[in-house]
Amino acid sequence: SASFPFEGPTQQGILTPPQAAAAFAAFDVTAADRGELEALLRTLTERARFLTTGGAPAPVGITAPPADSGVLGPVIDPDGLTITVSLGASLFGGGSGTNGNGGSSSSANGSAGGTSTTPTAPDRFGLAAQKPRALRTMEDFPNDDLDRSQCDGDLLLQICANNRDTVTHALRDLMRTTRGGMQLRWRTEGFVSPPRPSGTPRNLMGFKDGTANPDPSDPDEMAALVWAATDGSEPAWTAGGTYHVVRRIRMLVEFWDRVNLREQEGMIGRSRDVGAPLTGKHEFDEPDFSSDPAADSIQMGAHIRLANPRTPESTGSRMFRRGYNYDAGLDVNGNLDMGLVFTTFNQDLERQFVTVQKRLADEALSDYISPFGGGYFFALPGVQGADDWFGSGLL
Ligand code: HEM
Repeated sequence: SASFPFEGPTQQGILTPPQAAAAFAAFDVTAADRGELEALLRTLTERARFLTTGGAPAPVGITAPPADSGVLGPVIDPDGLTITVSLGASLFGGGSGTNGNGGSSSSANGSAGGTSTTPTAPDRFGLAAQKPRALRTMEDFPNDDLDRSQCDGDLLLQICANNRDTVTHALRDLMRTTRGGMQLRWRTEGFVSPPRPSGTPRNLMGFKDGTANPDPSDPDEMAALVWAATDGSEPAWTAGGTYHVVRRIRMLVEFWDRVNLREQEGMIGRSRDVGAPLTGKHEFDEPDFSSDPAADSIQMGAHIRLANPRTPESTGSRMFRRGYNYDAGLDVNGNLDMGLVFTTFNQDLERQFVTVQKRLADEALSDYISPFGGGYFFALPGVQGADDWFGSGLL
């Protein structure tokens, strides 16, 4: 069935239309030195190439453990699989949100008001000079309730496919073959709804999510909003990469489900059923933020108004999102543990995600959500050619 080309100047799983199932898994790299780090990245490349292409696993002797878990049967069907490899600040040394490690990101970190951070990491692989300019561990924002064991990490795998067993199979394969080089730190599963009734999928608050996304088929737009800057402000190896932000945001759904529809729609700024802005009729009508604060206008604290005020100054902070729903069972109090794995790919972490997140600090929606995990990563450039491997330009 469907497969996406493994090779290219950029990785799959970024502009790829979201497949139905996903896993986000962050790892602590345990490789002892640069040589072992290279071996780890080469193994990831080789396994990702095989899994996304499909075929029969290599035969092994009958006394050895099977080469494959068998979860997908004897022949691997690519099933729309994409494996996206991203690196966290700690791999480059430093990178703490508030302690800072100098550079242009430290002042912004300080003003984010962080209270807890992952401790500054030593530069184990001699990569500090190669770190993407804005990469750091994720700071706390107002209203965050971050559990540091559920944040950050040296390396992130984003695994997406048409079916959940394909995702699980790939995660097991990638972990088994890299056991000596990295250890799982946190993970979450994700899913997107099919069109209900059509078009944009819905999040677990019932609203269409992704309506106002920039167009991934527009290369100029993607060059301006997604792919790392090539004007010399970033290390040269980053070309074709992008800042990969994951925010694991719980939705307080029991609380949300007791709010009347008009109030729910006011908090978002769109109608729930159609997804139209409250100042329009159709999903893709442009919202009108100029109207007086009267009936059918969009309130000042509405999510879409703060996320994208559509002023000349806010144009550069637009971002490409690729979110997934999650459902993780229940918490210790018996409440449903579900929400959004908010994911965005940014050319510039500071100009886009951080700027928008700060604008959203006092949004009405903040009473109904609780960010608890995730992190900032940098998605590597794509693998180009049979001998190339993830991170070849970095190491
Ligand atoms: C738009 C929900 C978190 C940034 C939207 C829309 C909904 C939504 C329903 C309107 C449909 C659309 O255009 O996609 C949520 C929920 C969140 C959440 C339920 C938390 C659980 C975030 C976060 C950010 C963000 C953390 C970034 C920091 C945006 C942006 C838009 C948007 C940029 C597009 C606004 C526009 O251009 O009109 N969100 N969102 N959202 N959201 Fe969120």
